[in-house]
Amino acid sequence: MSLSHIAKTISASPTLKLNEKAAILREKGDPVIHLGGGEPKSKVPMDAILASASHLNTGEVRYTPADGIPALKKAIIRYTEEFYNRKVAPENVIASGGAKQAIMVALQAILNPQEEVIYPAPYWVSYPEMAKLCGAVGVAAYPEDGSFYPRIQDIEQRVGSYTKAVIINSPNNPSGAMYPEEFIADVVDYCERKELYLIMDDIYHRLIFDGKKPINCYDYAKDLSEKSKIILINGVSKQYAMTGFRIGWAVANKKIIEAMTNIQGHQTSGPSVVLQKAAVGALNGIQSGVESLRVTLENNRNVMIDYLNSFEGVKVTKPDGTFYCFADFSAYEKNSTKLSGMLIDKVLVLTVPGVEFGMEGFLRLSYCGTIKEITEGIERIKWALDPNSPNELYIGDRKLVRDWS
Ligand SMILES: Cc1ncc(COP(=O)(O)O)c(C=O)c1O
Repeated sequence: MSLSHIAKTISASPTLKLNEKAAILREKGDPVIHLGGGEPKSKVPMDAILASASHLNTGEVRYTPADGIPALKKAIIRYTEEFYNRKVAPENVIASGGAKQAIMVALQAILNPQEEVIYPAPYWVSYPEMAKLCGAVGVAAYPEDGSFYPRIQDIEQRVGSYTKAVIINSPNNPSGAMYPEEFIADVVDYCERKELYLIMDDIYHRLIFDGKKPINCYDYAKDLSEKSKIILINGVSKQYAMTGFRIGWAVANKKIIEAMTNIQGHQTSGPSVVLQKAAVGALNGIQSGVESLRVTLENNRNVMIDYLNSFEGVKVTKPDGTFYCFADFSAYEKNSTKLSGMLIDKVLVLTVPGVEFGMEGFLRLSYCGTIKEITEGIERIKWALDPNSPNELYIGDRKLVRDWS
């Protein structure tokens, strides 16, 4: 079949594919433990439900402006003032179908074919594919010291004549690393000096631990005028557990937002009004759910790290935020796809191979589920990998027998 060049180069989202696999196995009645998930399990805020339900009740569900309804823009402006101490105009804001679409449309607005966008590794699985969708090239910057914490030199070394933009995602999916203030200050300064676009993917910025405070990129910007090339991304998916509502946004200079709006207007039009109303409800409503989610995740992180630390051969860096940790299993198996496949086949534990995030030998393990899922999931992985494990393991009344070494 004759598909486009771009279509042939784009791979399926590995995380979405794994979700499907888990759903199929669960439907068959298999006791799968999903440590591959990318969404909190808490309930959607009641204010979000009520706001969308009351809109549905009007019976009027129509097209929306391509850049979002005024009420949502107003809520995003208020959010930007509260968390970024920055007053922006409605023309500086676009609401999209998730942060994913906001990033995609931003890249389409700034990248020409063959231009490059740099992001630290490990990186979110979608960045390289999004660059490809623009005909552009994603460039991973690996921290030279082997840690999850890049330094500005790691970025600088990858900058060349084709570089157009840098994407920073902190706290980071998959490592959970929250980059230090000094690095954010350096990267803001560097991008300003080199006139590069800086996309700040802040989707996890409030889900941070150990008393850390969200970092505001604008605190380090010299240029806060309409010439600023910072594109700030955020959304309701993670902090409000509203992944299925598909509402995210971007804040940037008016020209960028206008270009993004033109692109989005022809791509999908504005997001559904029902879902935008829900986002308004979440953003303007009672905020206690965010803090209780954060506290739950911090506790889950502690449990997962304790379990992993007692797992000989596995190396892990304590995450500063998000609901992921990125553990080095290379002592057991260097091919992360093979390892992840073996774990789902043998012990019904779903993990995401590190290679999808640019690092072989690692697995991304999520702690957004229950404590029972975390502890049982790691116990099963340990049983599968440790050659000194007993020969048999019971999952409920199902007996597993080790037939591998
Ligand atoms: C780093 C990062 N950015 C953006 C997104 C997209 O979020 P949304 O659900 O709002 O599209 C995700 C979702 O997994 C993510 O991990």
